[in-house]
Parts: sequence; C-alpha cells; structure tokens
Amino acid sequence: MRVLFIGGTGFISAAVSRMAIAQGFELYLLNRGSRIAHLPGSHGLTADIHRLEDVRAALQDLEFDVVVDWIAYTPDDIERDMALLRDRVKQYVFISSASAYQKPPAHYLITESTPLANPYWEYSRDKIACERRLMQAFRDEGFPVTIVRPSMTYDTNLPIAIGGWGSYTLADRLMTGRPIIVHGDGSSLWVVTHAEDFGRGFLGLLGNEGALGQAFHITSDEVLTWNQIYQAIAEALGVEPKIVHIPSDYIARVAPQLAGSLLGDKTWSVVFDNSKIKAFVPGFQAAIRFRDGIRRTLAWFAADEKRRYVDEAVQAEMDRILEAYAQASG
Ligand SMILES: NC(=O)c1ccc[n+]([C@@H]2O[C@H](COP(=O)([O-])OP(=O)(O)OC[C@H]3O[C@@H](n4cnc5c(N)ncnc54)[C@H](OP(=O)(O)O)[C@@H]3O)[C@@H](O)[C@H]2O)c1
Repeated sequence: MRVLFIGGTGFISAAVSRMAIAQGFELYLLNRGSRIAHLPGSHGLTADIHRLEDVRAALQDLEFDVVVDWIAYTPDDIERDMALLRDRVKQYVFISSASAYQKPPAHYLITESTPLANPYWEYSRDKIACERRLMQAFRDEGFPVTIVRPSMTYDTNLPIAIGGWGSYTLADRLMTGRPIIVHGDGSSLWVVTHAEDFGRGFLGLLGNEGALGQAFHITSDEVLTWNQIYQAIAEALGVEPKIVHIPSDYIARVAPQLAGSLLGDKTWSVVFDNSKIKAFVPGFQAAIRFRDGIRRTLAWFAADEKRRYVDEAVQAEMDRILEAYAQASG
C-alpha cells in the first residue's frame, strides 16, 4: 500500500511511521524535515504544507492508497487537502481529537456516538468543524474519509495537563525538588495511550474499506487518576513529587491560556469504550501499561542531553500560579 503522511515525524506519528515501514507500507512523509531529517525506509518529501506550490512540486503526480494528514486543524486545512488530494487518494484520514467529545460529558464512558461539542476550547471546536466538513463531503461526493480521534498519546513527550507539552520541564521540576501543579484534587479519571499502542490500532484502519465514513478513537483501556499519572512519572524518575493541588477554575482564571485545555478537556473524567476499533481491527488491544511506557519515555530523554529541553517560560508560569494560589489561600 502506498501511503502519504503529512507530518509523520511528530509525537504520535513518528512511532506510527516506524511501525508502517516495518509492516512493509510504501511510506511517503511530507514535512519540513526539521524534526527528523530522514526516516530510513521512507520516501521523504520536503515542503511546508502551507506553501501550496512547494507541496504540489513535492507530490508531482503521485497517487496514494491512503493519505493521513496529521496536522490539519481548521476547515481551511481541510479545503486545501480536499482540493489537493481529491483525485489521487482512495482513503483520506483526518486526525481529530478526543477533546472534541462533549464537555462536560453527559456520561463518563465515551463511545464514538458521544456528541461532539466543546464550548470551552477553540482547538476542539475547530476539529469538530473539520469533521463536519469531511462528513458532508463523504455524503455529497463520496470523499473517502476516515476520522481518528486520538486521546492523550505519548512517546517522546510527557503526558501531562500542566507543565509544558513536548518539553522536559515537568521532569526537571521533579528532579530538582520543585513543586508541581495537579489540577483539582487529582482524583478525576484519565487515559493515556502509548503511541505504539495507538499505531497498532491505527494501521489496521489503513486500506480498510469498512472504515470509510467512520470515526474512531484508539486508546488504552488502563484508567488512571491524574495523581497516579504524576506519581508514576516521579516514581520512574526515582523522586518523591511535591504535588500542589489547585482547582482548575482558579488556574484558568490566573492563567487564561490554560483555560481551554483544562476546562475543555483535562478537568473532566473520561474513559473510552474501545469496542469499535477492536471490532474493525481484530486483535487490537493496547498492551503498554503506563508505568512501563513512561519509563521508556524517560529513558529516551535520558539518552541525550539535547532532548531534555526545559522551557523557562513554563517554569515561570508554574511558579507564578503556585505563588498566586499560596497567597490566595493564606
Ligand atoms: N498527542 C496527543 O495527545 C494528541 C491528542 C489529540 C489529538 N492529537 C492530534 O494529533 C496530531 C499531532 O500528531 P503528531 O503528534 O504526530 O504531531 P506533532 O508532534 O505536532 O508533529 C508535527 C509533524 O508535522 C510536521 N509539520 C509541522 N508543521 C509543518 C508544516 N507547516 N508543513 C509540513 N510539515 C509540518 C512536523 O515535522 P517538521 O517540523 O519537520 O515539519 C512533524 O512531522 C494533531 O492533529 C493533534 O491535534 C494529538
């Protein structure tokens, strides 16, 4: 199968790319080449997706069984993709987000039929608008879309709510004995999925005709509290965490840039019913427990100092929230 990933070297997609190559897919990766210059076994196409002429030149007259756009966020991105790919793809996979599911949830257990509505987070509303446009194209013109909604997925990133997405900042705080923030009382339920587990389900959808016009989430069945997640990270680092619990509403008030992600996502307990992906991809079952997966993530960071980037702006913001909360609570 000839497959194009737009992106393909990111936090979720790098692992999926490696697995696709190992499974014998003829894989093309279109990105700017700034994260991973070349993934052995893939065909690299270098272009910025927002520079259409460069993208057209890179794609030439290639046709694909499957195109996955890992980095489409707005309906404009979707219009661009449809115009570019309509005549050269048999399946187009849109990477949405599980944050699109109804917030607050009417029921803790999420299936693909759970309504999509998120008044708190623009990112999620944009993903919902993308899904709606694609399903309209599926109905009106048979555009061969499959929608995949990852929930929090990790590999070379720490799966956390506060502390800097994609950096080592939270681990650095833990290692240096500084306090960390856990929203609420840390007892709400959350699910984190290793990118390789996600990939096992995901690759089974590619070239799967039954998956056209369908949406899926692909997650672990392991349900954790946020306290357990941060405890497991600290334990893997060999330190005792200094956790400060702060209500989400308060954090959202003093750090409004965190409001969408917290109030529109991480504040609410979510558990995913994975029956649908298991029915479409027989044998799929997430296998990596968080306490093992996070050790792999931290070993990846430990292997190269350059990976352990600490975001000083995030450090300062966490200190500011902690100080404000300490003052407010006397
Ligand atoms: N991780 C999660 O927990 C989670 C949860 C829900 C949804 N999602 C969704 O998953 C997707 C992210 O997937 P990911 O983790 O693999 O991505 P990512 O870590 O954001 O990586 C981005 C990828 O796209 C490439 N890229 C970025 N800007 C580009 C541009 N202008 N032109 C061409 N290529 C570009 C990057 O390579 P270069 O920098 O070299 O170009 C890289 O390959 C998003 O759609 C997100 O909404 C993720």
